[in-house]
Amino acid sequence: MSTSTRSIFLGVGGYLPERIVTNHDLAEWVDTNDEWIRERTGIRARHFAAEGEFTSDLAVRAAAEALENSGIAAEQIDLIILATTTPDNTFPATASLVQQRLGAFRSAAFDIQAVCAGFIFGLATADAFLRVHRARHALVIGAETFSRILDWKDRTTCVLFGDGAGAVVLEAREGEGGLGDHGILSARLHTDGRHYDKLYVDGGPSTTGTSGFVRMVGREVFRQAVARTVESIETLLQENQLAITDIDHFILHQANERILKAAMEKLGAPFEKAVLTISEQGNTSAASVPLAMRHAHQEGILKRGDLIVLEALGGGLSWGTLLARW
Ligand code: ACO
Repeated sequence: MSTSTRSIFLGVGGYLPERIVTNHDLAEWVDTNDEWIRERTGIRARHFAAEGEFTSDLAVRAAAEALENSGIAAEQIDLIILATTTPDNTFPATASLVQQRLGAFRSAAFDIQAVCAGFIFGLATADAFLRVHRARHALVIGAETFSRILDWKDRTTCVLFGDGAGAVVLEAREGEGGLGDHGILSARLHTDGRHYDKLYVDGGPSTTGTSGFVRMVGREVFRQAVARTVESIETLLQENQLAITDIDHFILHQANERILKAAMEKLGAPFEKAVLTISEQGNTSAASVPLAMRHAHQEGILKRGDLIVLEALGGGLSWGTLLARW
């Protein structure tokens, strides 16, 4: 078997803002109720960033924890990729500010925009750099202050999202080239721009000059999320000659517990294998997958050597699926 450079997960970190907003809290300023939100989505509470607390602040906290857990100094990082839909400013990249605050001055740093799929797009991009020896250590972050682009008059969207950040540190290491290797084994990214208007923000620097608010055709996104998640995971497993039963944990985007249940059922995978954070965090967009990884790691669910599938779908529509050994 030929040798192959693999991107190993050295450590994971995360940060959730202090302020917790329960469904009951929301019901005080939005025409909604706890029962509707829990039944339709599985969400009970979410975290919102404080006034003056920005995406970069969340990202720095998550990144610092990931670096600490990895035993890697900021100066050793040569690539920072920050997945976000809610950058501090239109430019420069929020990753640039994160680099400055971490003191990771050796690194190239840029943002990636694939909404909720952003972290998977970021991981796949970092993996491509590491595998061709363009970088040895990469910091991949998903960070969002989605609360800033919610329309509080639209109860069908504003109850779904929360703020947060998650991060991982990757290291390039030589593996055997087979599925027994640790690290990222396979990744697939997809976009179907025909669904551009199913989930979008109605503003931007080139159109309205404002940042706009989230707009979503909820039922269609729900349908697409289940179908694309199942299809992309099945394809990824087939390509690697694996069965659903070979996967230890499914770390999927936390958009709606009903989407997760439907996808797991269609895959024929037991729901216990799905990592869940949705009830206490809501949908944190690009932060949801790394925050779920951090949760699984902290709770001892994720053990070294476990085979995992990561998957997320969001606006674009864009979705990404990744197979890795922890
Ligand atoms: N509180 C109370 N009632 C509500 C609320 C609310 N927050 N929102 C909607 N309703 C009402 C509606 O007005 C409607 O009432 P009516 O029957 O009297 O007209 C009723 O509830 C049903 O509304 P639907 O929109 O049909 O509800 P549905 O069962 O489709 O659930 C939901 C809506 C939860 C948004 C669902 O469609 C969904 O989860 N979609 C996918 C969301 C998703 O995955 N988003 C990903 C975003 S990822 C990213 O890229 C940002």
